[in-house]
Amino acid sequence: MRVWDLPLRLFHWALVVCVLGAYACVKSAGITEGWLSETGLDWMTWHSRFGYGVLTLILFRLIWGLFGPRYAQFRHFITGPTRVLTYLRNPSQVIGHNPLGAWSVVAMLAAFGLQAVSGLFASDDILFDGPLSSLNPTLSRIFNSLHHASEWVLISLVILHLCAIIYYTLFRRQPLLRAMVTGDLPVTRDHHAGAVEPALDNAPVALRAVIILLACAALVFWISQY
Ligand code: HEM
Ligand code: HEM
Repeated sequence: MRVWDLPLRLFHWALVVCVLGAYACVKSAGITEGWLSETGLDWMTWHSRFGYGVLTLILFRLIWGLFGPRYAQFRHFITGPTRVLTYLRNPSQVIGHNPLGAWSVVAMLAAFGLQAVSGLFASDDILFDGPLSSLNPTLSRIFNSLHHASEWVLISLVILHLCAIIYYTLFRRQPLLRAMVTGDLPVTRDHHAGAVEPALDNAPVALRAVIILLACAALVFWISQY
């Protein structure tokens, strides 16, 4: 059954590329010897480009969480602590993000969103300044420290994310990775009885996603030119 619509899947894999790209570039910028430093590439400019990509994608995801198909909607998967506890006591298969996984999704969206926003205010004090770094000195100082201090928080979130997926794949026999690639999850008979509906994933949905994405990209481009 279709669970993840195409725009959501593309969002996920584009986010992975942009996050890894931003990280690889900022690490390459710190290398002063060897072939990496001789490529002539402006690594910090590429760091910010990938970072703008992350910002655009997270903005898109926030809007998709309101206007996207059923399993992408925040109201479908964000639940209170009682539902999380019930799920922990009786972890049955859930279509879409489960109540616990949902909070890790929220944490990742918030953490990477904050990282991209704080990057706008960051500066390396030599060659590269984020576009909003001279807007307000206090705000810049706070965001700059946040942007530098968060590295291990972000790495831990991603490691936790990958461990959870490996756990669900091996021990719970839920092919989550395949679902994030093809969009489809195998559905048991119980779920049919519970009248679950597949996510809408057609041309009008894709068109809506393209319009939202273009609007987000335009906003981020405008900020980057500040
Ligand atoms: C989610 C996206 C981003 C990630 C994961 C990320 C990650 C990082 C990391 C790990 C560092 C190095 C911190 C350190 O070595 O202490 C850094 C530095 C920096 N980033 Fe980002 N960043 C992102 C987005 C951005 C954006 C959008 C901008 C600006 C447009 C930006 C501008 C900077 C600047 C100016 C530095 C300082 C470099 C230095 O001190 O040498 N970043 N970023
Ligand atoms: C930088 C690395 C990554 C980040 C920031 C990230 C972020 C996310 C986010 C935000 C979601 C929620 C999707 C949504 O509803 O918006 C998600 C889900 C998912 N991610 Fe990742 N991801 C990363 C790497 C990976 C990798 C490498 C894999 C594959 C091995 C992966 C597999 C999945 C799967 C299978 C789901 C769906 C989980 C579920 O069914 O509840 N992710 N990821």
